Parts: sequence; structure tokens; C-alpha cells
Amino acid sequence: METLAKLQAKKNQEKITMLTVYSAALAAVFNNTAVEMLLVGDSLGTVFQGKENTLSVTLAEMIYHGQAVRRGAPDKFMAVDLPFMSYQVNPEKSLLNAGKIIKRTGANAVKLEGADKVALESVRRITAAGIPVIGHLGFTPQSVNTLSGYRVQGKDRAAAQKLKTDARLLEKAGVFMLVLEMVPAKLAQEITRALKIPTIGIGAGAGCDGQVLVCDDMLGLYPKAPRFVKRYADLDQTVTQAIKKYIAEVKQGKFPDTAHSF
Ligand code: KIV
Ligand code: NA
Repeated sequence: METLAKLQAKKNQEKITMLTVYSAALAAVFNNTAVEMLLVGDSLGTVFQGKENTLSVTLAEMIYHGQAVRRGAPDKFMAVDLPFMSYQVNPEKSLLNAGKIIKRTGANAVKLEGADKVALESVRRITAAGIPVIGHLGFTPQSVNTLSGYRVQGKDRAAAQKLKTDARLLEKAGVFMLVLEMVPAKLAQEITRALKIPTIGIGAGAGCDGQVLVCDDMLGLYPKAPRFVKRYADLDQTVTQAIKKYIAEVKQGKFPDTAHSF
């Protein structure tokens, strides 16, 4: 298993890979690969549940999926997202909710979005309790309504400066890693160079210390995948072909044959 220290030591040495995952079956496949980190992302709201955005995802749902992934991948460093409204109210609530995730799922870390006052104080409180925290800046899906849709962040000078400041504030507050989502590559590289902690990019160019993709997107299972996703497989076609064959064989009486009967 990766540890926090091992992951942090990879900065400037070796790129870090992270993938989201929501089910025990896929987690079991990932468990036997060299991927360093699994993220039970609240993207499960859109990707797994088929919802419009991640806002309605609950803490109970994050814990349910965290438990499933942990059963499938007992050997992986697993982070679980704190869902919308589980860390925005006050640092005490944030710590209690982070603690619930850790105790009930066996996660190694939690992740939260943004760098406002409550988020920063929450990072301090959660890390002080011995729970590693990952930050998340740039496009932060839980603020989709404020950000007016899925857009690249930090494009003008003021926004870029704010992102740099927020990244430093999060590092100072104690996050051990920072996800940068939909940020211009040059800005993400500048932030990466300015920080001691590793950055993990998604739609943030090659200058980050590592990369993360949503599992269904990269495997070709999610039709609405954004432009920054690379399809490493076409599971949609593989599944369609398998089902076609299954239907044909059942209709023709070829399945089940004697090898699959008692
Ligand atoms: O929920 C998620 O999948 C994420 C990653 C895209 C970083 O937060
Ligand atoms: Na997320």
C-alpha cells in the first residue's frame, strides 16, 4: 500500500496516478494494477446515479460506495470525497463527517473542495485529528451554480492569482495533495512548482505531479465525458457486443450448453 509519505516523495521523481471508482467489482480489478490511489469521488452522483450534478450526493452514499470500494481493493490508498454540505457549515461538522468516513469505510484520506474560510479551518481541524486531507481547486463541481457551468477556471489574471493564493493557503492549512480541475496547463504548472505538496491534474495539463480520471470516462462507459478525458477502452462497445452474442445464443438454444449446465 502507498503511504502519505511515499506519495509525497514522488513529487519531482515520478508521476502519480489516481482513478475514481465506485463499485467493489471494478475496485477489485484496480487492486491488481499499479495505480497508486483510488478516489471514491462524489462524481458518483453523475456517473453512477445519472444525476445532473453532484450536489444531492449524501454522506451516507459516499460511505456506502467507500465501503464497497474498500472491500474490492483492500490494498490501495483510498480517498473519499466529502459531499456537498458535509464540510461547508462549520469545522466541527466537517471533522465529525470526515471521521465518519474514515471509521466506516477504512479510507486513508478525505477530499474537499475550495479554500474559503470554513474550508481552510476544516482542513486544519481534520488534519489535526490525524486524517489526511486532499484539496481540490479550479473547477469545483459542488459550486457549479456559482461558476455558471462547466468551465475552465483561472483564465484571467485576477482569477489565476486567486487560484495561486488559494493553493498556498490550502498547503499551509495542511492538505497533503491538491487536485486541480480544468485549469490552463501553464497555470497548473506554475502552481505545481510553487507548492511542496503534489498536485493531481484533471483537465489541467501535463505539468501536474500526477493525473486523475473518472473510471467510467476513461473506460468508455460514460457518454457525456468532457473533452479532457482520454478513452483508454471502449467498454460500451465491448458490453454491447457481449449482450448481442448472449441474446443470439439464448434465442438459438446455444446457451446454456452442457458445459454450463448441471
Ligand atoms: O468526484 C470526482 O471524481 C473528483 C475527481 C474528478 C477529482 O473529484
Ligand atoms: Na469530487
